Amino acid sequence: MPSPSAAAGCPFTDPQHLFDDLAATRAADGLPYSEAFDARVVSRYDEIVAALHDPGTFSSIPTVPEMPSPWRERFAGRVPSRGTLIGLDDPDHDRLRSAVNTFFVPRRLARYEPWIREQAHLLVDTFVEDGAADLKTAFALPLPLKVIAHVVGLDAGRWEWIGAALGFFLGPRDIHHRGTPEEKAQRLLDLHEHVLEVMAERRRDRRDDLISHVWDERDSGAVQMTDFEMLSLFPGLMLAGHETSSNLICTGLSHLLADPARYAAAQRDDDTRAAALEELFRFESAITGMKRLVTRDTALGGVPLRAGEHVFLAYASGSRDARHFAAPDDIDLDRPWAVPHLGFGQGVHACLGAPLARLLLRVELGVLHERLPDLRLAVPSDELERTVVSEGRGMVSLPLAWTPVPVTARATPAVVGTAESPAIPVRVTGRRELTADVVELTLAVDRPDDVPAWEPGAHIDLELPDGALRQYSLCGRPGAAELRIAVLREDGGHGGSIAVHDDVAVGDRLRVRGPRNHFRLRPASSLLFVAGGIGITPLLPMLEEAEHRGADWRLLYLARSTERMPYLDELRTSHGTRVEAWSSRDRGRLDLDVVWADLPDRDAYVYACGPEGLLAGLEDSARRAGREGQVVVERFAARPTTHGPNRPFEVVLARTEEVVTVAEDDTVLDAVNRAGRAVLSTCREGTCGTCEAVVLDGVPEHRDSVLSLEERLAGRTMMTCVSRCRGSRIVLDL
Ligand code: FES
Repeated sequence: MPSPSAAAGCPFTDPQHLFDDLAATRAADGLPYSEAFDARVVSRYDEIVAALHDPGTFSSIPTVPEMPSPWRERFAGRVPSRGTLIGLDDPDHDRLRSAVNTFFVPRRLARYEPWIREQAHLLVDTFVEDGAADLKTAFALPLPLKVIAHVVGLDAGRWEWIGAALGFFLGPRDIHHRGTPEEKAQRLLDLHEHVLEVMAERRRDRRDDLISHVWDERDSGAVQMTDFEMLSLFPGLMLAGHETSSNLICTGLSHLLADPARYAAAQRDDDTRAAALEELFRFESAITGMKRLVTRDTALGGVPLRAGEHVFLAYASGSRDARHFAAPDDIDLDRPWAVPHLGFGQGVHACLGAPLARLLLRVELGVLHERLPDLRLAVPSDELERTVVSEGRGMVSLPLAWTPVPVTARATPAVVGTAESPAIPVRVTGRRELTADVVELTLAVDRPDDVPAWEPGAHIDLELPDGALRQYSLCGRPGAAELRIAVLREDGGHGGSIAVHDDVAVGDRLRVRGPRNHFRLRPASSLLFVAGGIGITPLLPMLEEAEHRGADWRLLYLARSTERMPYLDELRTSHGTRVEAWSSRDRGRLDLDVVWADLPDRDAYVYACGPEGLLAGLEDSARRAGREGQVVVERFAARPTTHGPNRPFEVVLARTEEVVTVAEDDTVLDAVNRAGRAVLSTCREGTCGTCEAVVLDGVPEHRDSVLSLEERLAGRTMMTCVSRCRGSRIVLDL
């Protein structure tokens, strides 16, 4: 369909012109047509944000054009023809992004900082004695490539080879790896082949990298994806990650160094570096905007749009909108953060790598300041050559100068640590088939002193022979010399349980981590345990504890048939009529409302573990009975987030004791930033983890998809862009 504006003619024929004339673009009536993007340009902040948060109406399908022939056919089955995440809509986008989202949470990425700092120093070593360099080729291109390769799980030492392979996508921007299109295509295929090999290695032997993380997500059943979809993720992320980061540090430095006083102010410490970067992301983002397809008749800013039209959401323009940013064409390092810039987009497609970019650029600025104290532009700032190609922009080169400094000492290589609990070596001393699809393992800890203390309800992480980590409830006796778990074989799962069933034998040596417990037994005189199939495992030590405490307890054990109820005979032998087995094959579906009939309404709890349908049904029945506070469940996986209507509440900013009210239609993030705090955000939809804040008091109502179940239950942090407060007041460490 021809654009309705095209007929009227339009000045926006090239991207450079468009972004040279941002103010005029914003002031233009309606949504002007741009030949450069073959789309109508959305230039005002509010309209861009509205579109970004309505991905159902503004589809991402045109964001990445389909690869043309003959490459599409040449790459079939090995390289995706339309990119990956940024060119997908939900549900596929959500499904694939959820496999990588939780990896890029700033708090979790912090473990990479020592490694990034070390690599930055090693690069500076190569040119610090020269007194001058093109920073783009010497530093700004190699470091992001090394970092993203390392984070993904590839050998960072092969950064040049990886960069050359990604050059296929860069066209005229591929300034360092020239070659024929065929040569570039072959390099890209070689890279995908290599990623496939690393994926196979990580499937057997997990490391602390993104590929291993995605395997963990797949194996846990949290994410469903094909091997090809998984393969498709990584080169796309490496491409997006390294080019934008290179451009950001170059353009950012060019603006800072153009004014030595501004550069000095930015380089005072890590906080000023972080603040300066945010202003630079606003002032000149690496991505100028993204294209969208209108999927249904709608309107933006009062301008009607018809289904089938394309729009270009001009982030670079929105971030300079004077309606939200005072003196928007000035760089103001002290600019308040009440309104988030659009440098990384917003919404479900907000830049996945933004937290890594923020970390990397802050480290880069810090290391350059430390090693090259009198860093300066080698040419007048108006002679620096900038590029705008399609939706990306950066610099052709960045010639800098400094007083040469001898390389004196190199830092020792950094060790990348993790916050995991230490691994405990164990030996399989027993294996028992409990039912046709449940096997019990007994695990002896090598040294008696290493036997971890645990309480009923705890689980351990078991490292499987293929390197996968799985959580299993401890079902033996606390204090015993050996640990015991039982594992249900899930043929439709992702291989973890099958590995236990098929590959683990008596005598094998394994490793466990933990235990951890968020399913503790509370004191009560009356207890009903509800188990669904393999959900019996955490309940076994709990009911023994209840017996020991002298509580009045019962077990309701549900499954399709009694043959699928592990430990049933032993339970009946030990506890007789306290145990009721409910076979749905023989007795039909149980009406869960009955569980409340005989349970006292005080000093009594229902503890349940089993499939999601059982637990959700039990919670619903508790609500109907007005007994929500009496049901405690252990889930195999996190439940989809549900929540009631918003209520206003107060946030206490602990560092000044200021009290901020969050209205029904407001967010904690916006409220605290209006109050002068500087909480960063990227997605504003609870998926990236950028806006995390520490909770000192009060109970958060978590609405994000970043925190683990355990972190939610602990309630020590919250994502301020979406999460709220369960009561009337919450205290944050802000
Ligand atoms: Fe992304 Fe809040 S801004 S989780």
